[in-house]
Amino acid sequence: MAEGFLLADEKMLFERLPEQQPDSLLALIGLFRDDPRPTKIDVGVGVYRDAAGNTPILRCVKAAERILLDTQETKGYLGPDGDTRFAELTRQITFGEALAADRRIVGMQTPGGCGALRLGADLVKHAGASRIFVGQPTWPNHDPLLAGVGLETVDYHYYDKSSHMLHFDRMMTALQDARAGDLVLLHGCCHNPTGADLSLDQWDELSRFVVERGLIPFIDLAYQGLGNGLEADAAGTRLMVSRVEQAVVAQSCDKNFGLYRDRTGTLFVKAASEATAQKAYGNMMALSRTNWSMPPDHGAAVVRIVLDTPALAAEWYAEVDEMLARIRHLRARIALADPSLAYIDRQNGMFSMLPLSPEAVLELRKDEGIYMASSGRFNVAGLSDENVDRFSAAVAAKIAQTRKAA
Ligand code: LMR
Repeated sequence: MAEGFLLADEKMLFERLPEQQPDSLLALIGLFRDDPRPTKIDVGVGVYRDAAGNTPILRCVKAAERILLDTQETKGYLGPDGDTRFAELTRQITFGEALAADRRIVGMQTPGGCGALRLGADLVKHAGASRIFVGQPTWPNHDPLLAGVGLETVDYHYYDKSSHMLHFDRMMTALQDARAGDLVLLHGCCHNPTGADLSLDQWDELSRFVVERGLIPFIDLAYQGLGNGLEADAAGTRLMVSRVEQAVVAQSCDKNFGLYRDRTGTLFVKAASEATAQKAYGNMMALSRTNWSMPPDHGAAVVRIVLDTPALAAEWYAEVDEMLARIRHLRARIALADPSLAYIDRQNGMFSMLPLSPEAVLELRKDEGIYMASSGRFNVAGLSDENVDRFSAAVAAKIAQTRKAA
């Protein structure tokens, strides 16, 4: 470049970028790894651990991977919609037999639940949606992801962490401001970060309201099976989708198949007619092509083999139930440790929130080697038999200390 070409106050392209802080949740992985204390406890990012504290590959997944290795004969491209049989199978798991038969619902493989959220957000934005109502607190990636495609996010208060209360009335009041065509982000089950789910009666009331107002549910279903079982965890989603004419559902196999890094999910869209659903599918294909061209194959191929092989499917159902039983056991054990933690057993899935400030969370990290999100969210499923009681005692003491100081 010729000397003097840039004016003094002009910057080179990449110098104009803002500084970014690393994602605070994912940063915990590195901080935990670098802590030399053998007694450290990782309850940060949502991965399931067994009684010994390991995140094993599910038995059905290992078996399917062997079959895949032996039988796959090509790595040729599949196309922007990836493995279509996989999406047919996850459709059954997500919606159950009756609703899955509704051809106004289309589904497409995506890179994990996050890819499904992104593709869904892109799709509704392309279709002309402008606003989405988001209950707070929510998964820290929801707001930036939705805002990143140009949707306006309207926050409302969903849960109060000091009283452990889900504020359904406040949610319904906030949604009074929604206009026809606005979207409503909902957690299908195992609310992340609070563990506080809508009851089926609340889903019922909410779905009637959504229909009456012409709102569009956008459901994130990332933990099906890990709250109260595969069927119970999908009940709210199924009720809602069966009643509305239009819906978006982002499904994930990352947790319930333990496929985390293999990024395996499905985006489902329900449209008012089969023809419109096909048009939506065509647009999902086009958006998939420009986003990632085609989703990665491995996880979806493994899920397809598991669900298409009766013995492996049976093993998967059993393994999901094992994970579920372990999470429920841990919740009960934490709840029994101290009255201030009793609410933990009334909540669902991997996460709950402790009534702690970011400073108190940092103290727990420094003094006890306990790593959790600064919001006070902790991963119940991250605890082992060896450390759960130590964890419960330490956080109960910190809650007591915080209350005394207040
Ligand atoms: C979590 O919330 O811990 C998981 O969903 C992992 C992630 O991507 O944030």
